[in-house]
Amino acid sequence: MEFRNRDRHLQILNQHYERRQASLMVVYGRRRIGKTVLLRHWIENQLSGQHLLWTAHRSTSDVLLAGFSEAVATVTPGVHTQVRFANWPALFEQLFKLAADRRLVVVIDEFPYLVECAPEIPSLLQKLWDKHKDKSRIFLILCGSHFHMMHEQFASQQKPLYGRVTESLVLDEIAPEDLSLFLPRYSPEQIVETYSVIGGVPAYLELWDDRHPVFKNIDERILSGRTFFSQEATLLIQDELAEPRTYLAILEAMGANRCAPAELARKTGIAINHMGKYLRTLLDLRFIRRILSEDVKHRTQTRMSRYENSRSVSPIPFPVCLSACRLGGAKEALAARRDRPHKL
Ligand SMILES: Nc1ncnc2c1ncn2[C@@H]1O[C@H](COP(=O)(O)OP(=O)(O)OP(=O)(O)O)[C@@H](O)[C@H]1O
Ligand SMILES: [Mg+2]
Repeated sequence: MEFRNRDRHLQILNQHYERRQASLMVVYGRRRIGKTVLLRHWIENQLSGQHLLWTAHRSTSDVLLAGFSEAVATVTPGVHTQVRFANWPALFEQLFKLAADRRLVVVIDEFPYLVECAPEIPSLLQKLWDKHKDKSRIFLILCGSHFHMMHEQFASQQKPLYGRVTESLVLDEIAPEDLSLFLPRYSPEQIVETYSVIGGVPAYLELWDDRHPVFKNIDERILSGRTFFSQEATLLIQDELAEPRTYLAILEAMGANRCAPAELARKTGIAINHMGKYLRTLLDLRFIRRILSEDVKHRTQTRMSRYENSRSVSPIPFPVCLSACRLGGAKEALAARRDRPHKL
């Protein structure tokens, strides 16, 4: 994989690194958007100072503590890698101590998994941050994709880390005008066609083969049985939400249409008075969009709104990935569209 784009993000990372004082950066964005690749590229190609990058996973607090301890040992002079800290306060105290007289970059990737396994970490970090921030030169980067959790941890006044973040780096999809960096052989028309199908998520662009026409890619990469793309929307929702079946049912009921809450309640059998809660979550996650009609007087009149799938939830529109693939009608739909490519 050749790293592309993201110059602005690299610049922000470098600017923060140049500062002398302690920095706490949060890096977030949806899955497959390129957070890990960005941080690794920056560390490997642009950073000359000391760093550690550690990735949490779903496990127990003890297992994660052992793994993180080994990573900390690699930046501790004269320490053997088989060291293991007794507890999380001891480990983080050591990190702040190591950064007392040198700039030390500490990246914790998949931070939400760490908090899931060790819920005390945010208040521990808050205490240590408040204690050491004026003396320490640590550059702590917390990275994660669980939009809800990341947003809540850092933007909610009730949460311990509220107000501590010195920079939030949000990764969005690659802009249409930059897509040619990923698909250099494509004409502008093919770029537009591709963008209309998979958007600007780097992982999806990497899977696209610009030696072949757009339709061949759609056929082979999306519609041929159980492909990466046909599983993707479901996986994203299962990863992010506790009750994926309810949300998937709402998205499936929505299909390609703009729907009012009452219509969705009728189609899914979910009580109308619960529908608002589910729709708000899907809106927060940017999985759907809310459309307000001209005659709605107040933005709070949510039942008057209509909702539609936001294309960014899924690499391809939900009706294609959930319905058409299941019903096996996608190939026919593709053939029909091939005759009218401007409608793609
Ligand atoms: N800037 C880039 N240039 C080229 N390819 C990229 C870039 N960013 C991401 N990719 C591609 O997208 C894939 C996913 O990127 P990455 O693993 O960094 O995403 P992520 O945001 O960390 O996802 P997750 O939340 O699932 O961990 C990479 O394996 C790579 O193929
Ligand atoms: Mg990642």
